[in-house]
Amino acid sequence: MKFSSAFLGLVFAALSVNAAISKAELKKNRAKGLRLLSLEDGAEPVWKTEDEKLEIIRSDHHFFDVTDIYEPNTPITTLSDSFSALATYPPPSHQTEVKAIFGNITLSNMQSHLNTLTAFNNRYYKSQTGADAADWIVKTVSAIAAAYPGTGATVKAFTNTWIQSSVIARIPGTTNGPVTIIGAHLDSINQSNPTSGRAPGADDDGSGTVNLIEAFRTLLAAGFRPTTPVEFHWYSGEEGGLLGSQAIAKSYKTAGTQVKAMLQLDMTA
Ligand SMILES: *[C@@H]1O[C@H](CO)[C@@H](O)[C@H](O)[C@H]1NC(C)=O
Ligand SMILES: *[C@@H]1O[C@H](CO)[C@@H](O)[C@H](O)[C@H]1NC(C)=O
Repeated sequence: MKFSSAFLGLVFAALSVNAAISKAELKKNRAKGLRLLSLEDGAEPVWKTEDEKLEIIRSDHHFFDVTDIYEPNTPITTLSDSFSALATYPPPSHQTEVKAIFGNITLSNMQSHLNTLTAFNNRYYKSQTGADAADWIVKTVSAIAAAYPGTGATVKAFTNTWIQSSVIARIPGTTNGPVTIIGAHLDSINQSNPTSGRAPGADDDGSGTVNLIEAFRTLLAAGFRPTTPVEFHWYSGEEGGLLGSQAIAKSYKTAGTQVKAMLQLDMTA
C-alpha cells in the first residue's frame, strides 16, 4: 500500500501524540487484544478490534497502528516541529560516480529476487511464509555483504513482537554522523484472507524490496564509503498499519539515533 509522504510524517507525530489515553487504559485494552489506530492527522487514535482493523484495511483507508508505540504523557509535537531542519538538501552531486554504478545494476538479479519473493504464498506479517520471506532477505543481503568484506557492511534482523522480522543492512560512515535511511516494506497482504490467501505482492512492494537489494549490492561493489552511515531497511507489517517502521522509529528515538534523511520506495515498478 502506498502512503503519501505527508501521511508518512505522521509516524513521528504518532510517537509523540498527547496522552488522552492513560497507561492503565493502554494496558487493559492491549491485554484484550484491541488495536489502537491513528486514522487521521491530528485526531486522537481510537480502539478497534482486529476484525474492525481488517475492515478498515479493506476500505483502503490509510492508518497507523500505534498500539505498541503510543506513549502516554508525552507532550504534543507538531508535524512541522518533527521535521524541523536537521539537514538541508543539496542539489544532486557525484553524478559521474553514480552513473558508473548504474552500469552495474543487473535486471536479472532483480527478476530472480522477485521470483523468489512472489513464490512465498504471502508475506503477511503474522504468517509463517511472511516470516520465511524476511529470513530469506536476511540471508540474501548477508551473502552480498559477505562478498564485500572490505566495506564493513553489516546485516541484522530486527525482531518484532509478531513473527516477521524487519531487516537492517548498514554501510558504516567514515564518521559517526546521523544515519541516512532507504527503506521498502517487505510484507504483502491478501485482504480477503490475510493469513493463508495468496498475496504475491510483486509491485506492492516486491518492486521496492528488490530495488533496495540491488542498490545495496552495486554500492558495495563500487566500494561506496559514505561520510555518514547509510542504512537499508526492509520493513515488516506495513500493511498492518506501518508496524515495522514504527517499531524501528521508536527504537531509534529511545536510543537517540539521529536520522538525516529517509527515502522510501513503495511500488516502484
Ligand atoms: C486472495 O485470497 C482469496 C481467497 O483465498 C483468493 O480467492 C484470491 O484470488 C486472492 N487474491 C489474490 C490477489 O491472489
Ligand atoms: C562493478 O562491479 C564490479 C564487481 O562486480 C567491480 O569490480 C566494479 O568496480 C564495479 N564498477 C563500478 C563503477 O562500481
